Amino acid sequence: MRVLTANGKTKERQSAALSNVMIQVRDLKKAFGDNKVLDGVSFDVFKGETVSVIGPSGTGKSTLLRTIIGLEKADAGEIRIGDELIYSNQTEIREKDVHSAYLKMGMVFQNFNLFPHMNVMKNLISPVLNRKLMTRQQAEEKACELLARVGLSEKKTAKPSELSGGEKQRVAIARALMMNPDVILFDEPTSSLDPELTGEVLRVIRDLAEQKMTMMIVTHEMGFAREVSDRMLFMADGLVQAYTTPQELFASDNPRIQSFLGTISQ
Ligand SMILES: Nc1ncnc2c1ncn2[C@@H]1O[C@H](COP(=O)(O)OP(=O)(O)O)[C@@H](O)[C@H]1O
Ligand SMILES: [Mg+2]
Repeated sequence: MRVLTANGKTKERQSAALSNVMIQVRDLKKAFGDNKVLDGVSFDVFKGETVSVIGPSGTGKSTLLRTIIGLEKADAGEIRIGDELIYSNQTEIREKDVHSAYLKMGMVFQNFNLFPHMNVMKNLISPVLNRKLMTRQQAEEKACELLARVGLSEKKTAKPSELSGGEKQRVAIARALMMNPDVILFDEPTSSLDPELTGEVLRVIRDLAEQKMTMMIVTHEMGFAREVSDRMLFMADGLVQAYTTPQELFASDNPRIQSFLGTISQ
């Protein structure tokens, strides 16, 4: 397919070759001052895949997700979501394309990021209503369906302050699902939860994996990652050090991977 880019040039697009790829990251670079956090990161996530992102603290895992979803701007490289080029330092990109690609992604944060002054129902419906993506009735029906799916039908009128951490995170996941995203990015979704609340959130994520939602999950829950991931991406020093199946990663004799896995399981 030939498409017209913003600068009026035509460009060959290899959509056939890319059709199974949902997220494509190429040579992505991002520095904060002298701190080169992403130093040429490249990988693909296929449609329907669950990919866990692991690695030492401060190694750029959050920055990677935030850059993919547009909360940080990269310095160089390329990001594609589906067939859509959403970031490139080489090619000019139309705002409209970027905007529609961002609507295809949801993100779930460690600290839930719910609107504290809104009840659960309003937390779910206000983003879609503000963007005029659904009527109020459609939004409320969808919200009810999703709250049932995450086991929170009884909490529609509760404020976030009246919920446990696990409930808040399940609301955040339901909110991310409101847009019918093609991709959900999770940044340490259970790190602020007491251990007894972690399971209820992981169960919801596991259900999404079984339904073949495309997901990237930054996590320290190695048992969960091992069980639920199609592939695991190990990051360190601003680079992808390994990207392989859980079986291969855990069997790896790479000292760096072994040392990381050893630290985390203690
Ligand atoms: N907005 C920012 N401004 C400056 N430095 C940042 C910012 N965000 C992250 N960093 C730095 O980038 C590095 C990677 O951070 P982060 O992506 O949060 O790592 P991780 O999620 O793997 O723990 C850290 O050194 C952190 O201090
Ligand atoms: Mg982080």
